[in-house]
Amino acid sequence: MEEQKDIYILGIESSCDDTSAAVLRNGVLLSNVTASQEVHKAYGGVVPELASRAHQQNVVPVVDQAIKRAGISKEQLSAVAFTRGPGLMGSLLVGVSFAKGFARALRIPLIDVNHLQGHVMAHFIKESEEDHSAPAFPFICLLVSGGNSQIIKVNAYNDMQVLGQTIDDAAGEAIDKCAKVLEWGYPGGPVIDKYARMGNPHAFTFAEPHIQGMDYSFSGFKTSFLYSLRKWIAEDPDFVEKNKYDLAASIEYTVVDILMKKLRMATKQTKIKRVAVAGGVSANNGLRNAFHEHAQRYGWDIYIPKFSYTTDNAAMIASVGTFKYKDKDFATMDLPAYSKVTFK
Ligand code: KG4
Repeated sequence: MEEQKDIYILGIESSCDDTSAAVLRNGVLLSNVTASQEVHKAYGGVVPELASRAHQQNVVPVVDQAIKRAGISKEQLSAVAFTRGPGLMGSLLVGVSFAKGFARALRIPLIDVNHLQGHVMAHFIKESEEDHSAPAFPFICLLVSGGNSQIIKVNAYNDMQVLGQTIDDAAGEAIDKCAKVLEWGYPGGPVIDKYARMGNPHAFTFAEPHIQGMDYSFSGFKTSFLYSLRKWIAEDPDFVEKNKYDLAASIEYTVVDILMKKLRMATKQTKIKRVAVAGGVSANNGLRNAFHEHAQRYGWDIYIPKFSYTTDNAAMIASVGTFKYKDKDFATMDLPAYSKVTFK
């Protein structure tokens, strides 16, 4: 019998403000290197033009480091997987162009990856050969990030059905906007998380949406928060400083409550009790605790990613790349990047 060759996939992620490269061997993580861009902090959000320039500076050293830390030579790579979209067009183009050039130079296949599919498939990155912690198909995945809030039924790595999604803001976007008006910096998610641990989640109540089905909406909550805050500050200019922990805990509680309600609906309707969470907001402790409570109360099997796989990273791109490589699902050299998509 012919001996099975090891599959080494280089993943490249450059959809927003993190330049990341990773190497997986048969799905097992060998390296995951990320250069975050500090340049945006001064602007309260990602500046696309600055992001693409920073990617250009970072991509070569980041890929070089990822290959070195993996302890392999570039000639051992089986394929190059890259984020094709969705994301910022200029940022994506840096990763897409680099991946194409690198794959061509090495004469190995090129694999395009949907960034959102990558977040979901972060659960399949193995820490060792013996790691069998990935959820079995089908499972439900709550994908929550700065740009997306979706409930996805994952039938297979390449068969994902969106059951519900936000009709306006994403959960992370809503949290970031609250933090912005509170002048807690950007992105505000980690600050809200930190303060929330010291506050009372029931100190303040904000409006929750009444949307049919499994779709989300966060704009009503955001407006209700803003109006309440304006009133409180008019009554007491030091209101925010005096109540910062309770404010953070109440914001976090409301967002988590909105997210979990629809997720319960999804598990009821599909009768699937394997429930995963993915994306930047899955780093949030309130959301993680809610998952643990639901596991206890409703008998869910829960899948919560390691912190390093919650935000944008190339290991998740290489994870999808490994699946696609096995199916020989390769990209052509003329494939363009895309800024907006759902799932293909
Ligand atoms: O997936 P991600 O890294 O990329 C984008 O979609 O941009 O998600 C970033 C989002 C931001 O909104 C950020 O505030 C949020 O994830 N986030 C958090 C936490 N860490 C990151 N939100 C709440 N609690 C956290 N600990």
